[in-house]
Amino acid sequence: MKNIVFLTGAGMSAESGISTFRDSGGLWEKYPVQQVASIEGYYQDPELVLRFYNERRRQLFDCQPNEGHRLVAEMEKMFNVTVVTQNVDDLHERAGSRNVIHLHGELLKATSSKNPNDSRCICTLTKENPDISIGDKAADGSQLRPFIVWFGESVPMMEDAALATLKADIFVIIGTSLNVYPAAGLINYVKPGAKIFLIDPKTVAYPHGLDVTVIKKGASEGMKELLEMLSE
Ligand code: APR
Repeated sequence: MKNIVFLTGAGMSAESGISTFRDSGGLWEKYPVQQVASIEGYYQDPELVLRFYNERRRQLFDCQPNEGHRLVAEMEKMFNVTVVTQNVDDLHERAGSRNVIHLHGELLKATSSKNPNDSRCICTLTKENPDISIGDKAADGSQLRPFIVWFGESVPMMEDAALATLKADIFVIIGTSLNVYPAAGLINYVKPGAKIFLIDPKTVAYPHGLDVTVIKKGASEGMKELLEMLSE
C-alpha cells in the first residue's frame, strides 16, 4: 500500500460549523489572537484564555464530522494514511481516522501549566465536565490549562509529522492558509516525485517551483474530486 499524508487546517472543519481563523468573520477578527492564543496572553489573563477555550469546547460537542472528514477516513481502505492536523477538534477521529497527529494540541484535553507535555498530567474533558476554571489543579499541583500549543510554544509532534511526510507517496493539503510555521513548512519535507494536492476554495500560496495539483473547492467536494483522480 502507498503512504498518503493529509495536512489539514481549520478549513477542514468549516463545513462542520467551526470558524476558521483568518477568513472574513474568522476567529482572529473576533478575538485578540495574542491575548487568547499565546503563552504571554495566558499569564497576563488566564481567566480570559480559559473562557475562550471553554466556549470553543462546548461548541465542539455540538459539531459533527463532515463528508470531507469521512472521505479522509475512507482512504484507509486503499492507503497507509497519516493525518497531520493543525486542528484541535476531534472530528478526524470521530469520522474514523485512526492515525491522527495533532500539531497544535487537542481541545478536549487539559494539562499542567508547569509542564504541559508531561503525559502524567494530561487529562480528558467531557460533555458533562467541559470547563477548566481558575483553581482547577493538574496532577502536579499546578493550574490546569488547555492542552493547546500556543504561539511562542514548541510543537512537540513536529518530528513525527516530518517523519511521516518524508515517507509520503502522496501529500494532500486541505483547508489551511499555510501561514503558521512549523506546520506550513511540512510541504518542504515531501520527497521528490511524490504527488502533492492542495484542496482549498481560495488561492493559497505555496513554495515556488513545487508541482502541486490545486483543487479549488471546499473539503467535501474537493475530497470527492481527489478520490476520482486517485482511482484513475
Ligand atoms: N473547505 C476547505 N478549505 C476551506 C473551507 C472549506 N469549506 N473554508 C475555508 N477554507 C480555507 C480558507 O480558504 C483558508 O485557506 O481554510 C483556510 C483556513 O486558514 P486559517 O484560518 O489561516 O486556518 P489554519 O491555516 O488552519 O491556521 C493555522 O493558525 O491560528 C492558528 O493555531 C491556529 O492551527 C491554527 C493555525
